[in-house]
Amino acid sequence: MTPRAVFPGFSSSLALTSDSPVGVVVDRARGCLIYDPGGKEYLDLLSGMGVAALGHAHPRVAEAISAQAARHLHVMVYGEYVIESQVRLASRLAGLLPAGLDKVYFTNSGTEAVEGAIKMVRKATGRSGMLAFRGAFHGDTTGAVSLGGNPLYRDPFVPLLPHCGLLEFNDTGSLKAINESTAAVFVEPVQSEAGVILPEPGFLAELAASCRAAGALLVFDEVITGLGRTGSLFALEREGVVPDVLLLAKAVGGGLPLGAFIASEELMSILSQDPPLGHVTTFGGHPLSCAAGLATLEVIIEDQLPARAATLGDYFADALTAAMQGDGLREVRHAGLLLGLEMDSPPLAEAFVAECLKERLLTGRTLHDDGLIRLAPPLIISEAELDDAVLRMQRALSRARSQPDA
Ligand SMILES: Cc1ncc(COP(=O)(O)O)c(C=O)c1O
Repeated sequence: MTPRAVFPGFSSSLALTSDSPVGVVVDRARGCLIYDPGGKEYLDLLSGMGVAALGHAHPRVAEAISAQAARHLHVMVYGEYVIESQVRLASRLAGLLPAGLDKVYFTNSGTEAVEGAIKMVRKATGRSGMLAFRGAFHGDTTGAVSLGGNPLYRDPFVPLLPHCGLLEFNDTGSLKAINESTAAVFVEPVQSEAGVILPEPGFLAELAASCRAAGALLVFDEVITGLGRTGSLFALEREGVVPDVLLLAKAVGGGLPLGAFIASEELMSILSQDPPLGHVTTFGGHPLSCAAGLATLEVIIEDQLPARAATLGDYFADALTAAMQGDGLREVRHAGLLLGLEMDSPPLAEAFVAECLKERLLTGRTLHDDGLIRLAPPLIISEAELDDAVLRMQRALSRARSQPDA
């Protein structure tokens, strides 16, 4: 069933982000499956790009949303009234994080968390320089685009924020550029859009040391890595490097819009003093999103989903490698259940994603590496679903390889 047949307004009234949307018509979703109106089921290997950590319509999350909706929705701009779900989620997050990451400012999205952090680090240091990494993606508002690691998505929108520069990920030599004019360095502890690039052992520690030496702040963007995806609740645990600021979004709202930037009391007070209300948001930390987020976080912890992501990630990566490496698949990189499949060429990657869709497998490419397929299945996915995915991907790859342009 084409999107146009079901909802003619899809292309005529809804602003689209590209000329070739996936166009799966969604009727309902449960667990790791998304169903179209004809009952056709798709296995979701993307989780709405890292959002649906518990899969779709998890009963605990649905219950929390209904209970909160029956109690109250939005009542006041963020930070003015005492809202139980906000306070409980902030306290739970702070209790799980290392000391120094104890104050949570809730936003509506990841990119807004980046914007809040930009204001905070510039005001806190009195410096304007900001550095990020080649290949990085931090969101699509203007400040976040200024820190984007791919000129293709930056250049059409210049002039952007001044004094922003890029470092090379995993290149300790490039850290020399961090100096007394640097307010902060923004980094994804596992680069996602860049192609699922893992930090080499010691690189993040060296980055932290360079920041400390220059008096610059270190910001970890855990919008996609946060809440268990990479095999630990936060990716910062992988090497024990504690940043000055932590950014969350995606899974933190349990399927509803929510982001957060988290820092010390001292840093966070920068935004509430001189002037007071120096950073405000109407909907940030919406009670419904916080209730869904809290329920999600509790299930992630109770069901030990970070450990499950670590085990299943290894299992899936090994199975994909055994089934397809050398047949168009060059390499599988992964951190828990965040996987990158490096294909032999961009046309093959494109054909493979299209063939996976015919197999009713939802996979995706990234903005910054045309030859890469990125996978981020729900953390509750079963071994049987992963086995089934590997078989279907094998069939899809064999068809993709037989296409003349691939
Ligand atoms: C690492 C990272 N940071 C920031 C963002 C932006 O988050 P949002 O889309 O919620 O604005 C994304 C989105 O994909 C992301 O992957």
